[in-house]
Amino acid sequence: MRYDKEKGSRRAFIKTTSAGVTSVALAATVAASAGPEAAVTEAPKARREGPPLAVTPACSGHETPASIEGPLFKPDSPERSDLITPGIRGVRLDLGGVVYDTACKPLPGTLLEFWQCDQNGDYDTSGFSLRGHQYTNSRGAFQLRTIIPRDYWGRWGQRAPHIHTQVQAPGGPVLITQLYFPDDTEAYGRDFAALNAADRLLNRACVIGLGASDNGHYTGTFDFVLKTTA
Ligand SMILES: [Fe+2]
Repeated sequence: MRYDKEKGSRRAFIKTTSAGVTSVALAATVAASAGPEAAVTEAPKARREGPPLAVTPACSGHETPASIEGPLFKPDSPERSDLITPGIRGVRLDLGGVVYDTACKPLPGTLLEFWQCDQNGDYDTSGFSLRGHQYTNSRGAFQLRTIIPRDYWGRWGQRAPHIHTQVQAPGGPVLITQLYFPDDTEAYGRDFAALNAADRLLNRACVIGLGASDNGHYTGTFDFVLKTTA
């Protein structure tokens, strides 16, 4: 309840901002084949266990690059960190991270909005499947339970798998960006290296750090660095 009023205004702000962004039609089309698989790397975390508001060496202070919003953002998503709803059967992803300001101070109460396509490359445009918003905790941390999205064909050609995100510290400007996956990600039988190389919107600074996979269930981290004033 503490943030209800503030939340309302921030949500409204994101809505306004989104409506003002130039949208270009992005026809989400289903591609073929599938086949969840496993992959390997180190599990991250730890930094989220640190003391509240501590400066963390892992933070570079470099602002997270922005990207286009695309036309498929929908306002008024449910507040939730778990996007695994009935019918979602993709390669599981638990994504966590911390939101910092450019001085590397964690930002509690930061609004994060996530939306993405499903295991077939489809966005839910009639409901809120794989859409949700949440707020960072007192340590500036967030957790998202979701799946790795599928690649799809759109106005910009074949899009590498990505998660759309809006991030806004209390009273700050909205960062709109997209998160991507490492070249060696194994999901749906797709060649992530080729998909990433061919995606002209992809920014390597926005690639999620993927942890160990357990039967196709990934753990990943991504820390955002935001401006807190316009
Ligand atoms: Fe997209």
